[in-house]
Amino acid sequence: MILVTGATGKTGGATLQALTKLGAPVRALVRDPNKWHVPEGVEVAVGHFEDPASLDAALQGVEKAYLVGASTEQQVEQESAFVAAARRAGVRHLVRLSVIGADQPGVGAMRFAAYHQILERVVRESGLPWTFLRPNGFMQNYLGQAQSLAQQGVFYSSLSPAAKVSHIDALDIGAVAAKTLTEPGHEGQAYTLTGPEPLSDDDIAARFSTVLGRPIKHIQVPLAGTRETMLANGFPAWNVDGLAELWALYETGAAAGVAPDVERLLGHPARSFEDFVRDHLTTFGG
Ligand SMILES: NC(=O)c1ccc[n+]([C@@H]2O[C@H](COP(=O)([O-])OP(=O)(O)OC[C@H]3O[C@@H](n4cnc5c(N)ncnc54)[C@H](OP(=O)(O)O)[C@@H]3O)[C@@H](O)[C@H]2O)c1
Repeated sequence: MILVTGATGKTGGATLQALTKLGAPVRALVRDPNKWHVPEGVEVAVGHFEDPASLDAALQGVEKAYLVGASTEQQVEQESAFVAAARRAGVRHLVRLSVIGADQPGVGAMRFAAYHQILERVVRESGLPWTFLRPNGFMQNYLGQAQSLAQQGVFYSSLSPAAKVSHIDALDIGAVAAKTLTEPGHEGQAYTLTGPEPLSDDDIAARFSTVLGRPIKHIQVPLAGTRETMLANGFPAWNVDGLAELWALYETGAAAGVAPDVERLLGHPARSFEDFVRDHLTTFGG
């Protein structure tokens, strides 16, 4: 049995999808099963990281697990609780979603990557056999701007026109996760997962325009404005400041590299931004 955490989220959902396609026995850990359509063939365990007893119950009879934590100030405590429960349950392989660059020295200035660096250490020190997936920013983040893309043909960004990022489709992350969970030979490996090409906001607008068949523009918003809007919309200040750190990193070109791991592991090129937009045509108003 394989337990997938974050099953309602971007990579957990994609991992579940890829595992069910392979016919693997899967159980999904979900907080609220009522807000989720359970895919056929998937067992459900109701629970969350703050409730160790629910994790023990979810991990009964589980041999392998996919661990993805939410980006919160409590992420280290939350995922550490899962790692401890996985140890108690005798899990034989833990595949953990990390972030690109989590192994680099000096990530302390970037809270998201710093948490991932700590959590990679927690997993290594647990003695559980592990695989780390270190992805770049997800293409699925653009779904958060689907309404303005569909209704006004625009998306907003605080990046400068020169900044490029090799965004990855979460479907590729799910496919890699499923492969590492069902094949031997991935224990002790860390994979850097990127999309097929670095893209600026201009490039992304051009790709949206081509696939949607109408002009899409990006509107550059000063960081202070974005910060104000996000705080007003209820985003915690910890996350908003973390995003500002991430965007500052994007400006340096550090997230523009293309790594070979997705193509090497899956045997085909990483999915393109066009593929991603085509998958969500109606949502983006195509
Ligand atoms: N987004 C990116 O571009 C990106 C890039 C690289 C790495 N990452 C990493 O990916 C991870 C996921 O981030 P995301 O923003 O993409 O989120 P996500 O996976 O789309 O959603 C988070 C998932 O975690 C579940 N969850 C939240 N709190 C939980 C708790 N206390 N106990 C159990 N499950 C809980 C959520 O369930 P509910 O549906 O119940 O809320 C949801 O399924 C983070 O570690 C982030 O650093 C993200």
